[in-house]
Amino acid sequence: MMKAKNTQSLILIIALLIAAGATLVFAESKPYVYAETRTYDEEELGIRQESLYNERDTYPAQGYKTTLEPGESERFQRSFENSPPLVPHDLTGMLPLGREPICLDCHMPEEAVSMGATPLPKSHFVELGTGTDLNGKLDGDRYNCLQCHVTQNRISPPIANLFKGEFRSEDSRHRSNLLSILNEGVEAD
Ligand code: HEC
Ligand code: HEC
Repeated sequence: MMKAKNTQSLILIIALLIAAGATLVFAESKPYVYAETRTYDEEELGIRQESLYNERDTYPAQGYKTTLEPGESERFQRSFENSPPLVPHDLTGMLPLGREPICLDCHMPEEAVSMGATPLPKSHFVELGTGTDLNGKLDGDRYNCLQCHVTQNRISPPIANLFKGEFRSEDSRHRSNLLSILNEGVEAD
């Protein structure tokens, strides 16, 4: 019994020695060539090619950007139900957005119909945290439109996007109704 165990151990040790030797020979005959090292500073990381530190006048600079003026462009289907719609028209001359974003000239509900623009939805005139109706005054959190509404560039995406939005009605592909469904499923006294 004892003898068999010792023989087994001996075979194992020999096998290990042979393996280690083979590795050494292999390592010596084929030294690993390190690729030339290059360091990247944080401005170069990621897919975006513009500074990460300044958003003020930033347009996505790559790819084809629309030159169609408001009134000439075509609205995109919403990305998913109640997502912020993408801006389909050119923004040249509209930035930076100040205290009175030029967007309001066309998108305030009273102007939108005559301009053919989509009116700001009710949700933008309510303090969402408290539900307070601001009686037609735009909520302070809504002034920086481009924080949520972005333009689209025609590019070849480096990573394919397989996301598919879900819509519960045909209408919701083109209009939002966030305020009326916000408390859906919530039971409150
Ligand atoms: C001169 C009027 C005008 C100005 C200024 C303007 N828009 Fe528009 N906007 C339109 C019109 C008109 C449309 C509808 C598409 C079209 O006809 O080109 C539209 C469409 C949109 C849409 C898509 C709405 C939907 O239902 O899909 C968004 C989002 C939008 N604009 C955001 C903005 C933002 C943000 C600004 C300011 C940076 C702005 N717009 C400035 C007129 C304007
Ligand atoms: C904090 C994010 C945010 C900001 C800032 C914001 N929006 Fe929106 N917007 C949304 C979301 C989310 C929706 C869709 C859900 C809803 O109706 O609230 C929307 C919907 C819209 C719609 C479509 C309305 C409809 O009936 O389908 C328009 C037009 C619009 N916004 C324009 C603007 C403009 C112009 C500004 C700047 C004055 C602005 N938004 C600021 C998030 C934002």
